[in-house]
Amino acid sequence: MNHLISMRDLTKAEIQQFISTAAKIEKGELQPDLTGRVMGALFFEPSTRTHLSFETAMKRLGGEVISMSGTKGTSVEKGETLADTVKVINQYSDIIVIRHALEGAARYVSEQVTVPVVNAGDGANQHPTQSLLDLYSIYKTQNRLTGLTIALIGDLKYGRTVHSLVHALAHTQPKFYFISPPSLQMPRYIKDELREMKVDFEEGEHVEDVINQLDILYVTRIQRERFADPVDYERVKNAYVISRALLQNVKPNLKVLHPLPRVNEISTDVDQTKYAYYFQQAKNGVFMRQAILSILLGEI
Ligand code: CP
Repeated sequence: MNHLISMRDLTKAEIQQFISTAAKIEKGELQPDLTGRVMGALFFEPSTRTHLSFETAMKRLGGEVISMSGTKGTSVEKGETLADTVKVINQYSDIIVIRHALEGAARYVSEQVTVPVVNAGDGANQHPTQSLLDLYSIYKTQNRLTGLTIALIGDLKYGRTVHSLVHALAHTQPKFYFISPPSLQMPRYIKDELREMKVDFEEGEHVEDVINQLDILYVTRIQRERFADPVDYERVKNAYVISRALLQNVKPNLKVLHPLPRVNEISTDVDQTKYAYYFQQAKNGVFMRQAILSILLGEI
């Protein structure tokens, strides 16, 4: 495995290797050593979790980090192309982690450089490291990945985390419910792929109709930054708010996940319930990103 660009590129065995490696690292059974290695973190779009958990992961493995947050103060402001920027970072680092607004940017970068490239989010397309930590979180909370009933709710059109996650779970015999406003439904090309793979899914607008059947409720933020017209965002921005009251009669094993950041789609009264798992999910990101760095750098 040279790069991590899309969940579509990964085999079941590779996904399993990421999960089992993250678990061993978390339990202290595996301690890869990346001393002397440098990670180039190029975040052209805002990030808190992905950026800082990758930095934490690299430092916990003994490695070093060079970092860019936005383009201010860099030579991108002088007109340097993405290709030239990454060819230079290629000279300074052993692995490149990149987030960029353009769909396909990470794959493009992987074609320009000689070191492994990790996609930390490319526009509304894919966010595979989030999906791997989501899978790890689902596995930890349910003790299995197969045969789960999972609702994905919110912005299913622009949410790259859900696009990656349905690909990641497609091989695990899930029952999916896609809950969204009509204007933010899961893209047709993804639904066509799921139909071809005979994955069971239904679309709807009302989470109340399915909440009591669920093992996982995966909540997403309405992606304001992807809307061409702010008026369209205003129409749907408060489409869903998950509250404690909604969780009255849910299955005892239900876990509420969210890639974060949240705006107001999960009310804070859910945080203290046994169903809330989003902050532990963010913590799992460090173990998974330790696994990703170690595997791509050939230390596992
Ligand atoms: N989940 C996620 O990608 O969060 P950040 O945008 O803060 O990295």
